[in-house]
Amino acid sequence: MSPEIKQIQQIKFHLQDKEYTVNVEEVTPNTSLNTYIRKTLQLTGTKGVCHEGGCGACIVVLYSKDVNTDKDIYLAVNSCLIPLLSCNGWRIYTIEGIGDPVKGYHVIQQTLANFNGTQCGVCSPGMVMNMYALYESGKLTMKEVENAFGGNICRCTGYRPILSAFKSLCTDASPELLGQYPDIEDLKMCKKDKCEKKCPTKCDRANKEPFYHQLADSRWMKVYSLSDLLSVLRTAGKASYKLVAGNTAQGVFSSYGGSADIYVDVMSVPELKVHEFVDTTYVLGANTSLAIAMELFTEVGKEKPQFAYLTQLANHIDLVANVPVRNTGTIAGNLMIKHDNHHFPSDIFLILETVGAKLTITDTDAQEVQMSPKDFLNYDMTLKVVKTIVFPSYNVDNVKYVSYKIMPRAQNTHANVNAGFLFQFNTNGTLDSARIVYGNINPTFAHASETEKLLTGKNLFDNAVLQQAFASLLDELTCDLIPPDPSPEYRKQLAVALFYKAVLSIAPADKLSPKNQSGGPILERPISTGVQDYETNTSLYPLTQAVPKIEALAQTSGQAQYIHDLPDVPHQLFGTLILADAPPNSIIKNIDASKALEIEGIVAFYSKDDIPGKNNFMPLDFFKEEEEIFCSGRVLYHHQPIGILVGNSQAVVQSAISLIEATYDPPTVAPLLTVRQILKEGRTDRIHDGKTIQPTRKGTDITHVIKGTFDVYQQYHFHMESQCCSVVPNENGIDIYPSSQWMDQIQIAVSKMLEIPSNKINVTVRRLGGAFGGKISRNGLVSCATALAAWKLHKPVKVYMSLTDNMHALGKRFPFSTDYEVGLNNQGIIQYMTCTHYSDLGSISNENPAQIIVLDFKGSYVNDTFKLDMKSVNTDTHHNTWTRAPGSTEALGSIEAIMEHCAMELDMDPIELRKANFPQDSPISEYIDELTTWAEIDKRKQSILTFNKENRWKKKGLSVVPMTYFFGPFGPYSVLVSILHGDGSVQISHGGIEMGQGINTKAAQVCAYKLGIDLNSVVVIPSNSFTTPNNVVSGGSLTSEAVCYGVIQACDTLIARIKPYKDKQPNGTWKDWVKACHGDYVNLSAIGMFSPKEPNVQAYKIYGACACEVLVDILTGQHIVSRVDLLEDVGQSMSPLVDIGQIEGAFIMGLGYYTTEEIIHNYEGKILTDRTWNYRPPGAKDIPVDFRVRLKKNNPNPAGVLHSKATAEPPLCLSIAVPLAIRNAVASARVDAASTNAKWFPINGTTTIEKVFVESLNNFKQYVL
Ligand SMILES: Cc1cc2nc3c(=O)[nH]c(=O)nc-3n(C[C@H](O)[C@H](O)[C@H](O)COP(=O)(O)OP(=O)(O)OC[C@H]3O[C@@H](n4cnc5c(N)ncnc54)[C@H](O)[C@@H]3O)c2cc1C
Ligand code: FES
Ligand code: FES
Repeated sequence: MSPEIKQIQQIKFHLQDKEYTVNVEEVTPNTSLNTYIRKTLQLTGTKGVCHEGGCGACIVVLYSKDVNTDKDIYLAVNSCLIPLLSCNGWRIYTIEGIGDPVKGYHVIQQTLANFNGTQCGVCSPGMVMNMYALYESGKLTMKEVENAFGGNICRCTGYRPILSAFKSLCTDASPELLGQYPDIEDLKMCKKDKCEKKCPTKCDRANKEPFYHQLADSRWMKVYSLSDLLSVLRTAGKASYKLVAGNTAQGVFSSYGGSADIYVDVMSVPELKVHEFVDTTYVLGANTSLAIAMELFTEVGKEKPQFAYLTQLANHIDLVANVPVRNTGTIAGNLMIKHDNHHFPSDIFLILETVGAKLTITDTDAQEVQMSPKDFLNYDMTLKVVKTIVFPSYNVDNVKYVSYKIMPRAQNTHANVNAGFLFQFNTNGTLDSARIVYGNINPTFAHASETEKLLTGKNLFDNAVLQQAFASLLDELTCDLIPPDPSPEYRKQLAVALFYKAVLSIAPADKLSPKNQSGGPILERPISTGVQDYETNTSLYPLTQAVPKIEALAQTSGQAQYIHDLPDVPHQLFGTLILADAPPNSIIKNIDASKALEIEGIVAFYSKDDIPGKNNFMPLDFFKEEEEIFCSGRVLYHHQPIGILVGNSQAVVQSAISLIEATYDPPTVAPLLTVRQILKEGRTDRIHDGKTIQPTRKGTDITHVIKGTFDVYQQYHFHMESQCCSVVPNENGIDIYPSSQWMDQIQIAVSKMLEIPSNKINVTVRRLGGAFGGKISRNGLVSCATALAAWKLHKPVKVYMSLTDNMHALGKRFPFSTDYEVGLNNQGIIQYMTCTHYSDLGSISNENPAQIIVLDFKGSYVNDTFKLDMKSVNTDTHHNTWTRAPGSTEALGSIEAIMEHCAMELDMDPIELRKANFPQDSPISEYIDELTTWAEIDKRKQSILTFNKENRWKKKGLSVVPMTYFFGPFGPYSVLVSILHGDGSVQISHGGIEMGQGINTKAAQVCAYKLGIDLNSVVVIPSNSFTTPNNVVSGGSLTSEAVCYGVIQACDTLIARIKPYKDKQPNGTWKDWVKACHGDYVNLSAIGMFSPKEPNVQAYKIYGACACEVLVDILTGQHIVSRVDLLEDVGQSMSPLVDIGQIEGAFIMGLGYYTTEEIIHNYEGKILTDRTWNYRPPGAKDIPVDFRVRLKKNNPNPAGVLHSKATAEPPLCLSIAVPLAIRNAVASARVDAASTNAKWFPINGTTTIEKVFVESLNNFKQYVL
């Protein structure tokens, strides 16, 4: 170590306006900013979900001043990836710092709340902070805003209201958006006065001396020059070291989060951030962030023709990761990931290698070498630094550069295949050279060298040459198998198609047939818009009023508290579930926790032997089979929990997991993971007969017989709050705070597990950070494990599952398969239908959606000719479970796929075929007719036909689907309403669980309406097993209505009690009457209860219809959902913004299920898609470009609560319109490929871009100019 480097044992940074000092021995190099602000400072507004840069829940804003221009710089960054030790001298803003109830909310917080942009609210602080950075940076066009949220996942809202809210703050905001938020201008103005920033970076700039922190096991160095960096490396000797730039690489490979002896923070080394022109080249410092590189490339590309190609590089980088990752992640960091992991499909490597850039690498003696990115991959980088990137200049007239990144989602995911092409032409139009680079082919592949050679001297715009090039590419592209990434064969064909696409995109127009021109451009997505069309009844306000959610501001300001945010209490311990890393049917031989228990801070390990009562979290009061908390012997599925490890910090528990040694006898049989596998193997023992519905009639006019299959698989709920629980022992027993949709299950299961009476167990749920059915029964396991540890240790214990553990261990949407045969006549009228439906329940058969499937499958159509055989199947996977619209999704998905298949086979208009089978007496025809007019279906069908005729490589598709959804009440749900005599304000506590669906808002609206008081006078306090005991699960879309029913009952009781006092003072106020009641000892608390026995609420049907239009790029398989029109029956909406939020959110969750989300197992039954890197809920740019929602007007429901209908689940079913629209588009490509091709291809899981590409029957022989 150079003697001149100072040691500093403290770091200082500003959080908002307050300076914090941290003694470095209190932290480690891996302590993230997120951990520090959440755990140490207990500022829990900032969330942490994925901890890998993939979700945006943790975004905070870094503030600094540009050293040269003194301009304010605001950067959104992922606090989960920022090491705390990097933060010395920084000013950081968290959600708490920009606005709160005391100092006033920031305009962004208010706008998001007013646009109803929150549901569960977990994503909201990250959304607000990402917008805050943009807003304060003055980057406010709608296009920029819409492009900037690729790194923020919202599972609830479907993004539309979030984007509308933020776009309303843009300089070019459309009048409709501004109209929705009248006070916007005032709010904009008042903000400026409040936010006086002080620049902390000045002192940081003054201090340019290198320094180091001595930590327990390592040393953290901060350097300000390249020479200091090199001298540190010179003295490193054999010590392991890591250069810390953006520190985002650990978001891709967790190994980068491992420990080293020396950490060197290189982010303030000017030589690594240069940008200058040297001779004919442009030189960029290697640790330039990707965001700055984009800015510079755009600027230089615009100003200097010889570097025009840099603009396209900027466009490519726009598809790399997401805004916060690009704000800190650097070019060198990205290249080093590729250097260390050749299989990483680096976009940065790809584009640099394509344009012939050179890397300057320096060793510790400052000896520099230059080399191509390709040569760098095999260069020994020990004790070396990537210093700069050198870009060549090109003559713009004879060079063409094109690159592609083909991703399974619009943003924020790695490439299936990426490709870069640089063609240099000579004056006679032939090629001087071609650079053809591909990523994600295999770890050693970069250039298609043979094809490059072949093309040299040739005319690229000649069909014969192209055919030779395609053949050559097919020859030299050897794709490897890299599950869960797509198949080798597809990646190879896609690579060829991208070459063709590149040629089409640069070919002179006169060389191209008009029909093939469509293959050139990539899909361009316009700025999205939305329409929300609903009516309200002012005479009933606040009932039916479009109010923002009552907790919206608490959510947008980070004040809303979730279980994970509960402050740690004295002696707090932390637990983690230990999962069996063993294939199904392995037998546990031994679990040895002794090594883990030796670690300081580890307190206990418990397994099934430590459970005093039942090793079961599914009480037989509700379920037919027991389900183990901890595996007792035979492993049912890969990653089944086998125990819980407890310690005094999350970090120590995490570090000790790998020390638990479990041994297993291996299974003697391979796991059976799908229905089709079980059918193929003839494993009838795994198939259980359910109900059979017999037809009462069979038609005889059978001119067509159509057979097919429909298969859909698991979907992860992706509730942003993982499964968690906090348990605090008390003098009676325990207080439990579970992330459960069902307090009753938790109380009973824990009581039976611990063998203590239920009255010793007090369950409280304030809110859930999303659930979607995943927390109906599955939280039972987590809560029982947590309660066991807390009970045994008599200490508070918290468990918060990591995203990956949650995805591995707990059940998902029921997979479902159907085999069908349909007989129809020439008019498309069904004469008979025979279906066998298989529901895959996983390893246990406790939950079964069969009954729902039967009802909803038949719902929209004349069905007396249907024969339905219901079967359930046991596979070797976790117990599948309820997921938003369970059963209904599968039922409506399969029947609509069947209808579409039939229509294609009969060459009939699918809408007409459906109409031919609607029952005479069903309102469904009315819905389809209204949609047809509203959405201008006939006109659009014509224009799509013309478009498809004129274009070979872009296709449009339109689908229209009906929905008849059966809704049946269950219960009980109880409600307690209390009027407080001090000021007449009201509190409600109910037995439902608020998880974003807006129960609290509806309950408050109903209460205010009934009592005739202001909505602001009503608050809803957490649900609790004492105030509202014995409640059934919150689910099935029923809870909001049921709770409102309970509110009505309680209010009616109160109204009756108050009436005599009101009658006595007819001119009095509410407060007067409350005061009078209290003075006269009137009970101002009342309960209400909903049960299915209530005569006023009966089962009813919910109708809907949806039209979806897509635009598909046949050469890549990608699509844009251009427009969705969705007409939904909500009766008379109690709260239209809440209902529209449910509809949009549900639809987008379904869109994800059908197009981007895939659960993939390996042959041992292990889930491979287990993180944001490879499991892809839709993002902000995957939603419909034009999303129109209409609530059917003048449509009161006689059977529902206050004439309303349930909304949370049904609209998800309508999302089947998306894969069907894609099939309609692809049908045109299939017929173009050969007129004899069948138009239809079956639904077999997610309609991924791989499937679309393959099913479009791409064949390079047809790739002509
Ligand atoms: C959610 C997410 C999505 C992503 N998606 C994509 C994608 O689609 N395409 C893609 O290409 N990439 C993607 N990435 C990768 C991203 O571009 C890189 O994480 C980032 O560029 C790494 O830079 P960094 O500065 O953070 O590196 P760090 O994490 O700071 O460092 C990574 C490694 O580089 C070394 N290093 C850093 N600087 C130097 C230097 N000057 N000389 C020598 N060694 C050095 C470090 O020692 C370390 O070993 C994604 C990342 C995330 C988190
Ligand atoms: S928690 Fe940081 S991005 Fe997900
Ligand atoms: S509101 Fe966005 S994740 Fe729940």
